[in-house]
Amino acid sequence: MRPKILVTRKISDLAEKKLEKEFDTTLNLKDEPIPESELINIVKDYDGMISTGFDKISESFFKNLNGKLKIIAQVGVGYDNIAIKFAESKKIKITNTPNVLNEAVAETTILLILAASRRIGEAYNLVRTDNWKNQKPDLTKFMIGNSVTGKTLGIIGMGRIGRIAAKYARAFGMKIIYYNRNKLSNDLEDGASYYSDIKDMLPKCDFVSIHTPATAETKHILNFSTISLLPRHAVVINTSRGSTIDDDALIDALENKKIYAAGLDVFNNEPNLDKRYLNLDNCFVLPHVGSATHETRLAMSMMAVDNIYCFFNGKPLISEVV
Ligand code: DGY
Repeated sequence: MRPKILVTRKISDLAEKKLEKEFDTTLNLKDEPIPESELINIVKDYDGMISTGFDKISESFFKNLNGKLKIIAQVGVGYDNIAIKFAESKKIKITNTPNVLNEAVAETTILLILAASRRIGEAYNLVRTDNWKNQKPDLTKFMIGNSVTGKTLGIIGMGRIGRIAAKYARAFGMKIIYYNRNKLSNDLEDGASYYSDIKDMLPKCDFVSIHTPATAETKHILNFSTISLLPRHAVVINTSRGSTIDDDALIDALENKKIYAAGLDVFNNEPNLDKRYLNLDNCFVLPHVGSATHETRLAMSMMAVDNIYCFFNGKPLISEVV
């Protein structure tokens, strides 16, 4: 009998076809979200599951398993939606999809840097609401933002995505500095300067961009105390996870012009982000689309399917979390 695989959400067509060739597959063609309470019952019939960051897979999910499920292959590099230590205790393999989304997320980082510093949200709204014609075309005031070229970008978390964001930022003549658990080799640093203490780096940042995973250690890495170290012209960028930022602290800084702007793709409690962000002209917001390109989502979907394939064929997993 072929192993039974449940796919919780719609993934790329090619990946679904590949999965169906090898496995007894249940797809979610309508892409309806499955609440965790239902997923807990449905999954009891399956040997493997392909999940996405939209699924909640908590302690109760693992506590209710009956021993059939052996692997969850997440389509996504982040897996903060999965209660990893309970997966481990139940000996369920968890895989993710690193690397294939590095460029897409780094592109989004650059997009946010440009959009936040050049006031693109405000400018776009002006045209879309047909209000451009009502503006005074003032050479020194109309939609004037800050230049990016030649500025200093501080990267929090110089992993795979952080390093590609740094590479793209160098094309704008940006100087790269970074804070990381460990100093990188000269090769990986590629000219970036290392700070072992984030508090020493922040005062030097014209832009600061977060590229860490969501862990207990990185929760609220930008908070009242760290944000207060940024210069008034600084721009905060986040494409990692909302939990890395204390919303009260960032909103206070934006409302009271303690920093210049923010560009955010990720939020606490997505999609129900703190509504105060929506009233801030100096905050450019996106609905968590960092990896949302056709090419990247296909590669992510394929990698999840390949992890399932390797697992059930006794081959080494491509990207094992636990
Ligand atoms: C990830 O892979 O974790 C991304 O945030 C999903 O787009």
